[in-house]
Amino acid sequence: MYQKPNDRLKGQTAIVTGANSGIGEAVAMALGKDGANVVVNYVSNPESAEEVAHNICQHELCGTGIAIKADVSKEEAVQAMFRQTIDQFGTVDICVANAGIQRDFALHEMPLQEWQLVLDVNLTGQFLCAREAIREFLRRGLKEDVSCSMGKIIHMSSVHEIIPWAGHANYAASKGAVVMLMQTIAQEYGPQKIRANSIAPGAIQTPINKDAWETPEALEKLHELIPYKRIGVPSDIGAAAAWLASDESDYINGTTIFVDGAMTCYPGFTTNG
Ligand code: BGC
Repeated sequence: MYQKPNDRLKGQTAIVTGANSGIGEAVAMALGKDGANVVVNYVSNPESAEEVAHNICQHELCGTGIAIKADVSKEEAVQAMFRQTIDQFGTVDICVANAGIQRDFALHEMPLQEWQLVLDVNLTGQFLCAREAIREFLRRGLKEDVSCSMGKIIHMSSVHEIIPWAGHANYAASKGAVVMLMQTIAQEYGPQKIRANSIAPGAIQTPINKDAWETPEALEKLHELIPYKRIGVPSDIGAAAAWLASDESDYINGTTIFVDGAMTCYPGFTTNG
């Protein structure tokens, strides 16, 4: 889906975690298109991160993209990424805590290690990134010529922040927890004009859920869960993120925007339950 570039994020710097593929890549591209400098964070596959960063720099209205490696579940790595970003661009205005993983097991077979890993990346990673972002926002202070808020945090959640998901307890628990993290940040730092919101994607066509769209049969089955009858594409999320990061959404704080083709609207009841 082509989105026209504009300059609503000009002069701002964004860190997007897990931005070398899928939803993170689309978010990085969308923010770059609207003028932001973008840190394309990755943990593996540096070539793909460099490519995304390179693509961001292609349009004259776009900001600069750079790739920075950091495991978001590690405090020191996250702090180093923020330091490097601030050295390069002066500050951070937008933090998109997107990096996330799935490790699927029936609960009674789930090793503690796989529970922990998902919580470390999907929840602790979002905490660490949000914390560093807030520290930087408070240090820098409000710059009204750049944005009416001191900083914006966008948490990548999921429809599974409200839809229980058999076989994915670790993932669903991590996303359920992201709601309270995000809303608490919105409540705690609203007075400083820091905004925190979540995007809850439904089924978006990315490598994470390949099994659900790879074959026509799988896709047909997936459509039963989506009243809008199409799988989402990463740019659906990119568009929402760019708007949420901009002053156009200045009064949106402490909420989750579901970008899911109505997956959360009980599709099982479409034919009278
Ligand atoms: C998951 C996908 C899944 C989608 C809808 C996402 O959060 O990562 O694997 O397809 O939710 O169930």
